[in-house]
Amino acid sequence: MMAVLAGEAIWPPPIWMMRQAGRYLPEYRAVRAEAGSFLDLCYSPRLATEVTLQPIRRFGFDAAILFSDILVVPDALGQKVWFVEGEGPRLAETSLDALADLDPGTVLERLQPVLETVGSIRAALPSETTLLGFCGAPWTLATYMIAGRGTPDQMPARRALFEHRQAVERLIDVLVEASVVYLTAQLEAGADAVQVFDTWAGSLDDEGFEAFAIEPMRRIVEGVRARRPDARIIGFPKGAGGHLASYARRTGVDAVGVDWQASLDHVRDQVQPIVPVQGNLDPLHMVTGGEGLDRAVDRVLDHLGAGPLIFNLGHGITPDGKAENVERMIARVRKAEPRSA
Ligand code: CP3
Repeated sequence: MMAVLAGEAIWPPPIWMMRQAGRYLPEYRAVRAEAGSFLDLCYSPRLATEVTLQPIRRFGFDAAILFSDILVVPDALGQKVWFVEGEGPRLAETSLDALADLDPGTVLERLQPVLETVGSIRAALPSETTLLGFCGAPWTLATYMIAGRGTPDQMPARRALFEHRQAVERLIDVLVEASVVYLTAQLEAGADAVQVFDTWAGSLDDEGFEAFAIEPMRRIVEGVRARRPDARIIGFPKGAGGHLASYARRTGVDAVGVDWQASLDHVRDQVQPIVPVQGNLDPLHMVTGGEGLDRAVDRVLDHLGAGPLIFNLGHGITPDGKAENVERMIARVRKAEPRSA
């Protein structure tokens, strides 16, 4: 995985899966029940380490991802976060001006348990397994902070952007600064690389994508590299479509995560020549399996296997995903014939 992040094409490609620790695994559900609330699980170094390791033991993925959530950052900034069973996240209703006035300086102190988890995972993980840290991208975090919950179309944040652009810009500045210190601290605590999840990048218009997806990410990459010049950073701008190549070029990330809607011809011809790519199997194949899964795996390898590739899904596995389909995907990738350019 680290060789691919350095730009090498490796066969078979390294493989991990977004949300690889989660509710589709019975052993996760058992620990989750023991922890109480979801955030209690995120803030327990012992239990968060355990659930991070579960998919590594079961499937032998090439990378582990820190078990936490992107919303621990707003929580640490002082906007209270909780999760409603069966519904999703809630954040305390807070005015846009108050959000823009939050102090990024407090974030590390409150995220100490997560940083402790990073160290404890690294100590328990086989040395050949890459440990990924992560955070949410500023725009995606802002959508939850402004709406106070998940929404289908991010209308509250998009509206705030059009009506109160300067306040949204100040909130983005807070989140850029918090992300730089948090990612740097994860790398110092033992993460080998980090991924920044911009789940809602695709809700921005063309101008907005440049100003609120590309530019904050460019500043995060620059800020982390100023502190750790060797930092390896993956950007995942979900829904970026035709923006993928300019995102890759202008943010300076080491690799770009690609969702399952992206055109593989476009990714091979326009993105992979700039940076290694990660993705992009439709997570629904983890539910449906069978020969449809095999064909979809082959299609990713046929398009992207000749260049630097990290095999992954195009978004997280859902709670109805099946472990047997995960095994089938991994076996198919690892047994595949090398592709050549
Ligand atoms: O990938 C991993 O295995 C690492 C852990 C991880 C979680 N969330 C665990 C989680 C990561 C990297 C995230 C990122 C995250 N969290 C994102 C960005 C990536 C993405 O999936 O789009 C976002 C938008 C969130 C916010 C969030 N967290 C939502 C909207 C929800 C509720 C939706 C749901 O699936 O229930 C969560 C909860 C959450 N985060 C769960 C897990 C395993 C399920 C909660 C539970 O176990 O009860």
